[in-house]
Order: sequence, then structure tokens, then C-alpha cells
Amino acid sequence: MTWTTIDKDKCTECGLCRLRCPLCYYEKDGLTLSRANETCCNLCGHCVALCPAEAIVHHQLDMANFPETGRPVQFDTGDFIQFIRQRRSHRHFKDEPVPRQALETLLEACRYSPTGSNRQTVEVIVVQDRARIEMYSNHVVDHFEQTIPVIESRVEKLRAEGRAVDQITLSMMGMKETLGRIVAARRFGFEVIFHKAPAVLIFHAPETSSTPKDDCVIAVQTAMYAARTMGLETCWIGLFEFAANTYPPLVEALALPEGHRVYAVMIAGYPALKFLRMVDRKPIAARWE
Ligand SMILES: Cc1cc2nc3c(=O)[nH]c(=O)nc-3n(C[C@H](O)[C@H](O)[C@H](O)COP(=O)(O)O)c2cc1C
Repeated sequence: MTWTTIDKDKCTECGLCRLRCPLCYYEKDGLTLSRANETCCNLCGHCVALCPAEAIVHHQLDMANFPETGRPVQFDTGDFIQFIRQRRSHRHFKDEPVPRQALETLLEACRYSPTGSNRQTVEVIVVQDRARIEMYSNHVVDHFEQTIPVIESRVEKLRAEGRAVDQITLSMMGMKETLGRIVAARRFGFEVIFHKAPAVLIFHAPETSSTPKDDCVIAVQTAMYAARTMGLETCWIGLFEFAANTYPPLVEALALPEGHRVYAVMIAGYPALKFLRMVDRKPIAARWE
């Protein structure tokens, strides 16, 4: 039983489905046939979206959710680059909650981001409760506080034994100063993990998914640009990810589904500061071949 049926009365044998997906569609005796099933079809929907005769019925897809593409959205390229350049990491927000509907719109934007092998396994924890945000933040700083002496004693031990300091420890050493500053900042009453943002979005996915990290990163970047269309600004919070998958009290508090890891985190809110200038960046080193 294939996942798709080709309506022979409608099919014009244009061959687009075969061209796009030779794994699932093939030609025999001048007729296009389908062998779409779980081994070759990842439900990307290209076949039904390309077929000009609407001859393909995909039994795993609900065509009610496949509206016509409609007019192509035209952005001025200069405006588009400007929009990208105007995105900055915001760490100061108005004391104003983000309406749930706006956050739902961000999730809707993420929904249409691509995922490796079209696995669509990204999930999001949307945190708006201030006490909960603070609790997560404190867990991260606690973790850092406990990690610093561990790094130090590890390095001391390796050196005392005359052994080379391994790469992971070296990179942790590099982080030590930053972690120390974060711990000190909490003592002075600063919240430097989520910057007192009114909304935190934690993106997680099953470790066994095809490309879980990439999928979550793409979803976050998509949400960040979508946020800007609604007057919201955002910031990546890699520091949270660092603790979320290793610090037991935080792992427990997050209660992710079995086998999931946190792969990307962002904060969002209405910006309290306005950047008056955009930023310069190193040109991308490109090799043209
Ligand atoms: C993967 C990633 C992780 C980041 N983690 C943090 C973080 O934990 N806390 C923070 O304040 N900023 C974080 N940032 C923001 C960067 O510091 C920021 O993007 C960079 O300085 C460039 O500034 P811009 O975003 O304003 O252009 C992160 C950015 C990226 C891409």
C-alpha cells in the first residue's frame, strides 16, 4: 500500500513528481506510478504542492492544510538586509508582558521552518511566569558557581599529574572568568541570564532526531525575525543551554520529555532601549569556486 494515489483521469504525465521525487515516483509503460511509503517519503509535501493537475492524493497529508501559495511576497532586498542589520541582542525590556497571541505567532513562524529530513520534532517551553524564570536563572547561576571550583581542581590535578589539560577543560577554563562574573553579578542583584525578560522560549528536541540542534537553531532565528515584525526584540541565551542539559536540579525542573535536550533558547520582550546605529561586521570570508 503506497501513501499516494495518482488519479489517472487528472494526471497529464507532465513528470514533475518524478523529477522532484524519483524515489517515490517512477515511470512504467508510459505511466507515472507511485511507491511512496515510509521508506522513501518524509512527508515534505513537494509532490502535492507541485502537481499542476492536482492528480496526487497523499493519504498521510491533509490537503486542508495546504493552501494555495498565492502571490509571491516581494521584499525589497535592501530593506531585507536592513531588517537583518537592525536586529540586535536586546537585554533591557519594558516591564510589559508579551501577549500570548504574539508568542503563539512566534511558534507559528517556527512551525514553517525547515527541519532535517522534515522530522519536525522541535518543541518549545514558553515561560512567562516571573517566579519560574527567576528559578531557572538561579539554577543556571548555581550551576556556574559549583562548576568554577570543579574546573580549577581538575586543572590542578591534571597539572600535578604532569598530564596535558584536555580540550574540554581548556575551553571550560576560558569560560571560567565569564562564569565568575555572572556569579558575582547575582550577588549585586543583577539577573544576567534572562535579563529580566518577560518571555523565555526554550527549544528542545529528541537527541535521536535527524538534526535536532540545527532544527532548534533555525526555529529560534526564525522566531527572532518574526518577533521584530511585531515590535518585539530578542536575545539568544546560550548560557542557559549550557546548564540545562547537565545541572540535575535544572534538568529536573525542566522535565523535558524522555530523550530530549535543550538546543536553543531565546528571550523576547518590548525593548526598553533603542539602538541608534547599526553594527559593522567582518565580511564573510568566502572562497569562490
Ligand atoms: C548561539 C548564541 C548564544 C548566545 N548566548 C547569549 C547569552 O547567553 N547571553 C547573552 O546575553 N547573549 C547571548 N548571545 C548574544 C551575543 O552575545 C550577540 O549575538 C553578539 O554579541 C552580537 O550582538 P548582536 O546580537 O546585538 O548583533 C548569544 C548569541 C548566540 C548566537
